[in-house]
Amino acid sequence: MTYSTITGLGFYVPQNVVTNSDLTQYMETSDQWIQERTGIKQRRYFTYGKETNASMATAASRMALDRANLQPSEVDLIVFATITPDYFFPGSAFLMQRELGLEGIGVIDIRNQCSGFVYALSIADQFIKTDMYKTILVVGSEIQSSWIDKSTEGRNVAVIFGDGAGAAVVQATNDPEHRILSTHLHADGRYAEDLFVKEPGSSRPGRAATKEMIDEGGFDVVMNGNAVFKHAVVRFSEVINESLDANGFKTDDISLLVPHQANIRISEYVRQQMGLAETQVVNNIHKYGNTTAASIPIALTEAYDEGRIKPGDLICLAAFGSGFTWASALIRW
Ligand code: UT7
Repeated sequence: MTYSTITGLGFYVPQNVVTNSDLTQYMETSDQWIQERTGIKQRRYFTYGKETNASMATAASRMALDRANLQPSEVDLIVFATITPDYFFPGSAFLMQRELGLEGIGVIDIRNQCSGFVYALSIADQFIKTDMYKTILVVGSEIQSSWIDKSTEGRNVAVIFGDGAGAAVVQATNDPEHRILSTHLHADGRYAEDLFVKEPGSSRPGRAATKEMIDEGGFDVVMNGNAVFKHAVVRFSEVINESLDANGFKTDDISLLVPHQANIRISEYVRQQMGLAETQVVNNIHKYGNTTAASIPIALTEAYDEGRIKPGDLICLAAFGSGFTWASALIRW
């Protein structure tokens, strides 16, 4: 039986640190409001001409490959999650493939918003378990800072999001003791418009992108923060429990929960609801904000680097986001 396992992790965040106080130059907000409501102290913004979505993903991937002791040429497939690609199409997976010099191998671009990385990991897991590929690069990368409206009108969204990238090398193994145990994917399109960017869209009477759309705010991120919050706290717990039930484990068995970094209050609510200790949950939202598909691989890499993940540990990844989507992965490290 072939299983899949994570053999290398990496991340990249832009050097440009934007503090809560920095944001007060553009909008009416305060460090206190942002910290109290979200737990965020600062985030990173990319620098035009220096970083792109694909270049950040490439840097994260190179780090993950180095740590797996692999050359890029050993990668069989790239699965790339982002909602902020460099081009409308083709996706950033193509650009990253080019930067890594991997012309010819298959690439899959997926969206799935904040759950994108877990969806990507699940796809990699299936391809490996069916013996189609042996080594897959799974990436989440986002540049949110160029999408958000940094005026007071957009402040409820703008203060949350940041830029960054994370990557994992997923490889085939025959070892049943150290592997991805299961992944669980969900979505509910009834809530699509509770967190979305409407334009550019194909189903329009005229062109897919017009000046009027920009003027009417169609390119801005629209978020019903309260609805997202309420669904998130329910779905996070549900999908974590689903992964435990599927493998015959209890909450106590979790060594480390790596939740999507949406809001410290969401993570804290879920932690308390599940009866987990603070040391069992990874939080780094204070440093990077919400980096959507990149948040889990960044948090996972940092946790690994801090020595919080040891062989044999039971690691749970869990996400919730726009769509709505929610997903989990249970890993025996
Ligand atoms: O990965 C999924 C991504 N999204 C999420 O996870 C979002 C989940 N939701 C949230 O995190 C929270 O709903 C927010 C942090 C977005 C907002 O917090 P909230 O406690 O739900 O605040 P609210 O939207 O109910 O707004 C409360 C007040 C409003 O003022 P009034 O109407 O009470 O006078 C807002 O205008 O706070 C105001 N406000 C702000 N004030 C200062 C909203 N954004 C800001 C801001 N700075 N940045």
